[in-house]
Amino acid sequence: MVNPNPFNPKMNLNQQNLVVCGTGTDVGKTIVSSFLVQGLNATYWKPIQSGLEDGSDTSKVCKLLNLAQERWISERYKFQAAVSPHWAAEKEGQWINPSFLNLPKIQGPLIIETAGGLMVPINREFLQIDQLKLWESPIVLVARSELGTLNHTLLSIEALKKRLIPILGIILNGPPHEDNPKTLEKFSNIPILAHLPHLQELTAKALKEEWEKQHLDITFKHFKKITKS
Ligand SMILES: Nc1ncnc2c1ncn2[C@@H]1O[C@H](COP(=O)(O)OP(=O)(O)OP(=O)(O)O)[C@@H](O)[C@H]1O
Ligand SMILES: [Mg+2]
Repeated sequence: MVNPNPFNPKMNLNQQNLVVCGTGTDVGKTIVSSFLVQGLNATYWKPIQSGLEDGSDTSKVCKLLNLAQERWISERYKFQAAVSPHWAAEKEGQWINPSFLNLPKIQGPLIIETAGGLMVPINREFLQIDQLKLWESPIVLVARSELGTLNHTLLSIEALKKRLIPILGIILNGPPHEDNPKTLEKFSNIPILAHLPHLQELTAKALKEEWEKQHLDITFKHFKKITKS
């Protein structure tokens, strides 16, 4: 594991915001966001939720971590259909306005979970990656650990780099893989920050054990909220 460079000049590190993106839908953004929220003692925000018919990510994170009310922020947009945000909005006669997606200013770290992958449309003129550019906050890219990840992850990183969007690093999700971590680092020049294995029991305790085992307080030290006990 390689530590991120906290002095990357392109990153806006004035706020302790981390934007959790994925190489696609269902890659584990909600689980990795929970991992970060718990490990960093952070607040969680999912600005756009489509697919309420399958339950919301906010409620999953709150249930998994037993989060207090002040540790999560309500969605700006919520839609029933489990389809891309632009179309889910249209199905309900709505249109997502990016100027309503400004990052909330809070005390301490904020973990923002995006919808789907980078090139998902927010509306008919604006992609999620356009929003990432406006936010200027460091990206944590969640990628599957196994077969198929090289192409999806390297394409995602190329798209972020092309737009000069700062990337803190990658978190791999799934069973350990012998070759993918080193190949991803070699071709992307982006560090792998952590590796969340498949957890038989998805509990706050299991996430905490992984956090400690991988010494992630050190990797993410800039983003950790220090609380007095
Ligand atoms: N490391 C893991 N161990 C066990 N189960 C996992 C792990 N990562 C993800 N899952 C399971 O895989 C499914 C998809 O994960 P998750 O909901 O985090 O994906 P997502 O990227 O947030 O999806 P979406 O694009 O819908 O927001 C969930 O049922 C989740 O519980
Ligand atoms: Mg999710």
